[in-house]
Amino acid sequence: MALRKITVKGDEILARKCKPVKAITPRIRQACEDMVETMLASDGVGIAAPQIGIMKRFFIAMPHVDSDDEEMRDRIYYMINPEITYREGIQESSEGCLSVPGYMGLVDRPQKIRIKAMDLEGEEHEYEFEGFAATVFCHEYDHLEGILYTDIAKETMTVEEYAERLEALKEEHADEQ
Ligand code: NI
Repeated sequence: MALRKITVKGDEILARKCKPVKAITPRIRQACEDMVETMLASDGVGIAAPQIGIMKRFFIAMPHVDSDDEEMRDRIYYMINPEITYREGIQESSEGCLSVPGYMGLVDRPQKIRIKAMDLEGEEHEYEFEGFAATVFCHEYDHLEGILYTDIAKETMTVEEYAERLEALKEEHADEQ
């Protein structure tokens, strides 16, 4: 495995639509393994192919990092040629992106989704995700469409501003009690 360089906002690669994966070649498998290593090394919960400069429709995601279940927490989904087949509800999510270091944004996302994709063995699966996990999959899927969260965010701020805001909210809440 190897760490890959992460493409950052401003690189036009991130604004282009990716092409379907025609065959799961050793190269794609290697890219996926490298993406796992790169994601873990950068404390991310997902990374999409264009973020390492590959214009193909696949990403990996680890959306249950807050789960109490260890197996669940470590689960990595390999999503090749994914398709969102169902969206329901709306939630406001706070998002960051490895390609937009130092920033956070507030984005309206569906509360619940269904998404189908092939795994690394070429087998098709359909999954259902809610809450944070749904956000993660929508965010990664958007990368394949050339969309960054900053393109659709209601508001974008630095991580420091975001931390300050959370702190202020906490204080407000404490005052109420
Ligand atoms: Ni991202």
